[in-house]
Parts: sequence; structure tokens; C-alpha cells
Amino acid sequence: MSRPVFIVGGPNLGRLGRREPEIYGDLTWEELGRKCKQWGRDLALDVEFLQSDHEGDLVQMIHRATDEGRGLILNAAAYTHTSVAVRDAVAACDVPVIELHLTNPAAREEFRRNNLLCDVVTATVNGFGVDGYRLALTGLKGLLDRG
Ligand code: DQA
Repeated sequence: MSRPVFIVGGPNLGRLGRREPEIYGDLTWEELGRKCKQWGRDLALDVEFLQSDHEGDLVQMIHRATDEGRGLILNAAAYTHTSVAVRDAVAACDVPVIELHLTNPAAREEFRRNNLLCDVVTATVNGFGVDGYRLALTGLKGLLDRG
């Protein structure tokens, strides 16, 4: 199998399906993982699906994505708005990084407009719910095929 593409989720995303379902939907993180792996297979991409609530874990997952992978789809969740460490790890990536949010943070509370990642990522997918993962995988596949 070729090098995988990494999908990494930050804090509280492991609670998807139970966490504020009126905002984030009913699908669980585990169910989303199965969908992403299938969407990946449809695009001939091998998906590695990871999540952590801890900042240092996310930094190490981002390092793995650039050392072992072909690309990264990152929903850093709340760390998007606060973490210089996550930003620095993303900035050091030499594979494409797609920032993804289920919601559109810019249309929510004021503090979510602070985004430490948006100027160091390759592209952004916001506000499509779980379907955003399919869109991001399709976009990433296009970037990888174009080299
Ligand atoms: C989120 C948006 C963030 O502001 C929030 O902290 C999350 C989820 C999203 O996917 O919409 O945890 O990243």
C-alpha cells in the first residue's frame, strides 16, 4: 500500500454524535472514520484516521503525517484558535495540509474568528458537516495527482 493520507481530529471530536448534536450532527467519530476510509478507498487513498484531546499528541500526529504520509486533513478543533505548537507543526509540514471544520467558525462566536492555522495550510473546508471530509479527500486527491 502507498503512503497513507492522515486525518487528524483534535479535542472533543471523539465525542462526535453525543457532543452538541444540534451543532455537530449525530454521526459518531468512529462512524465518520469508517466513512472516511471508504471515501479514501474510492479515491485510491489509504486513510489513517486519528484523534486526540491532547495538544502534544496532535503535534506528534502532524509530524507523522509529514514523515510517513502523503497529506493531512486536520480538524484541530479548539486548538485552531489557541495553539502556537499546532501552528508550528503545520507550518513545518512538507505535504499538503487541508484545514477542516464541521461548522463555519467565522459565523459563530467572536473568539472562533481567531485562527492560528489559516495562513499556514494549503486549503480550507468549512461548514459542510461530515460531508466536508469527503470534499477534503477529493480535493487532496486532486492536489496529489497534480503533484
Ligand atoms: C470545530 C470548530 C471549533 O471552533 C470547535 O472548537 C470545535 C469544532 C468544527 O469542526 O466546527 O471543536 O473545529
